[in-house]
Amino acid sequence: MAKEKTFSIIKPNAMKKNCLGDIISMFEGNGLKIAAAKLTKIPKAKAEEFYAEHKARPFFGELVSFMTSGPVLLLCLYGENAVVKNREIMGATDPKKAEPWTVRYKFADSIGENAVHGSDSQASAQRELNLFFSPEEICNLG
Ligand code: CMP
Repeated sequence: MAKEKTFSIIKPNAMKKNCLGDIISMFEGNGLKIAAAKLTKIPKAKAEEFYAEHKARPFFGELVSFMTSGPVLLLCLYGENAVVKNREIMGATDPKKAEPWTVRYKFADSIGENAVHGSDSQASAQRELNLFFSPEEICNLG
């Protein structure tokens, strides 16, 4: 299977729990490599652009406010079947439905504060990576 890139955000609630190492170990232990990383606080306008598809949803304001509430770790993950693999490692959006070995089961607080984001397709991954990384910030891991 071809190697590909995906985009991940370790969200403010997970950052507060001091579990960055645990989450990165779960990515690495499941065959994904870190091709880029940026520790930052997302500006409000950028969060609104990132989540534009959810603009009409009732939780949009809450989502933007949460995602801009503290530092996050932005990642480019790389490996075989990376988009699907990352979503398996994250677990279901609602942590109550996530399997026990997943990031969201272990570190999410609620459906809104669900510890991590991961792109849902290769097209989304490309759009999301372009929003947060310039091409030269992403290492070519072969
Ligand atoms: P994420 O993978 O970052 O993409 C969209 C986000 O919207 C999702 O994770 C959740 O954090 C949030 N979300 C989805 N459904 C709800 C909901 N019902 N209530 C609050 N937030 C939600």
